Amino acid sequence: MSDRFYITTPIYYVNAPPHLGHAYTTIVADVVCRFQQMTGKETFFLTGTDEHGDKIVRAAEKSGISTREYVDRTSALFEALVPQLGALPDDFIRTTQARHIRVVEDILNRIYDSGDIYFSEYEGLYCFGCERFYQERELVDGKCPDHQSRPELIRESNYFFRMSRYQGWLIEHIQNHPDFIRPERYRNEVLAFLREPLEDLCISRPKKRLDWGIALPFDDRYVTYVWFDALVNYISALGYPDGERFHRFWPHANHIVAKDILKPHGIYWPIILKAAGIDVYKHLNVHGYWNVDQSKMSKSLGNVVDPHALKERYGLDGLRYFLLREMNFGLDAGFNHEAIVTRINADLANDLGNLFSRVVAMVHKYTEGIVPAGDHPTDAMREIQAIARLTAEQYETFMNEWAFHKALGVTWEFINHLNKFIDTAQPWHLFKSDEGRLQLGDVLYTLLEGLRIIAGFIQPVMPDTARKMLTHLGLAESEAEQSIADVHTWGMLKPGLHLDKPITLFPRIENQAKTGNQMTEPSKPTANTSPEEITIDQVKALDLRVATVIAAERIPKANKLLKLTVDLGLAENRTIVAGIAASYEPETLVGKQIVVVSNLKPTKLMGVASQGMLLAAAGEDGSSVLTVDRPVQAGTGIR
Ligand code: ME8
Ligand code: MG
Repeated sequence: MSDRFYITTPIYYVNAPPHLGHAYTTIVADVVCRFQQMTGKETFFLTGTDEHGDKIVRAAEKSGISTREYVDRTSALFEALVPQLGALPDDFIRTTQARHIRVVEDILNRIYDSGDIYFSEYEGLYCFGCERFYQERELVDGKCPDHQSRPELIRESNYFFRMSRYQGWLIEHIQNHPDFIRPERYRNEVLAFLREPLEDLCISRPKKRLDWGIALPFDDRYVTYVWFDALVNYISALGYPDGERFHRFWPHANHIVAKDILKPHGIYWPIILKAAGIDVYKHLNVHGYWNVDQSKMSKSLGNVVDPHALKERYGLDGLRYFLLREMNFGLDAGFNHEAIVTRINADLANDLGNLFSRVVAMVHKYTEGIVPAGDHPTDAMREIQAIARLTAEQYETFMNEWAFHKALGVTWEFINHLNKFIDTAQPWHLFKSDEGRLQLGDVLYTLLEGLRIIAGFIQPVMPDTARKMLTHLGLAESEAEQSIADVHTWGMLKPGLHLDKPITLFPRIENQAKTGNQMTEPSKPTANTSPEEITIDQVKALDLRVATVIAAERIPKANKLLKLTVDLGLAENRTIVAGIAASYEPETLVGKQIVVVSNLKPTKLMGVASQGMLLAAAGEDGSSVLTVDRPVQAGTGIR
């Protein structure tokens, strides 16, 4: 086993803003990277944007700004999304950067010098969406299977890459390395494709047709075909040929792509590497599509879901969990809001969230919030320990196989074992007798230690929740991260640690979600009974003002409420309790300027004094807080 790991996402096209499909791949890369770190590996995680080619020029033209400005803007959207997804890449590469262009030129020169690039006239069917020529047999009813449009017949003189020369070598390489392309279905798909003679690849575009690209170093009337340019990012980002990173990480390269770009990654890329005298990557990991109503979610079909809106509505860890739990890596999965709500409510709020708050509450009730010693386990407790060990083994195997849904599946089986253990051990019953109380500490220790291990299992997928659980169990911030060895080891939690009061890890999602992309549609007005008329004086009696949200947090045990601290331009900030917890993650509200009724008589809600009320549209799908159109001074009156 090597001690390094290099993981890449595709570099995404900047012809449109990112959608959930892009977010998924980036999150998977992050999960895999975090898992590899748990196993002690030194990792390098790369993502970025693909910025040359026809498609991008046309998108820029439509938006009416220069291509350069357009790619800068759209690339920035992708770059800004990454931390929003909780992903921590080490580098973000753009194909318009000098460090990349240099390497593309270098690779082209090497292959040109070795005689694998030749000049010739070609006529073929070209899909502008895919930016590539299609062979008749690849089309479905004469149409591009990805874009469902008819490719155009075009004829030009161009440079070609002699891929055919490497066909035999590639077949052999794939056969000798069964996990070079995985899962197996995609390996088989590539092998099936390689059963037919491989055509040479057209790697240039005449500048008179397209000048937004990297000029061929040996003929500047042409730019490089965007795929030849893009694939090289995986090594240009590492500083090929002499970069330290290249030597350290390239031998451990793992690419992740969806099946739409299997062919360039499974065929062109290994052959480019081979022709340039570079070792091929270790593994190509291929996943399926997120579909909406049976069709691939894609910009061209107009059925995309915005990951920011999903995060806002379901929380980051809820979203990451859903994506990893719902998709069987390699196969397609259907996206709809009901499925997310079900996963969050059943798996997160009920199974895990309830287990956590039940256990913490019992520790407070029975052992004054202190982790008890657990050195006299009964048979039932030893059984839990054995299940924990077995689960850790299965978990690690599944994570290594990229079967995330199974790794989470066994984690949830373990969670349910613990829930059942509470029901059979009946701590509330044990508490009633002296004899019972002797056992109670061991019961609670078993549960707490189980929770610690669960926090380790979920750490790659839900890092924030894992950290929250561990610090709650009394671990210091600096220790609130686990290694794979930690999840294999029973008994690491130290007796004597003090637990915080119970918290809600995951609020239930109350509102009725609907299928499809509802994120942008306004909700229907709920009631149409005409309200009673009032006078202008009654309106004037309301003191409505703009307030800036300074802080926001959940209120323990109150699933619907958030506690906001707001600035009304007064000497002191005010506290406002609002029933919007199902619609907003508290941190997303900070900095927003909202509208409040400032002269409402103070009242107590769930033990918290509320000094005012905020205004929000109360739709069927949840609340939407009223904000102002442009920044104003805190305390500005509303008329
Ligand atoms: O192909 N389901 O960029 P791209 C799952 N620039 N994943 C999806 C998806 C969906 N519905 N839609 C997109 C390109 N993806 C090239 C790549 S790499 C050298 C050049 C994800 O913006 C998935 O990872 O079209 C897919 O492979 C990628 O986005 C395609 O992104
Ligand atoms: Mg695409």
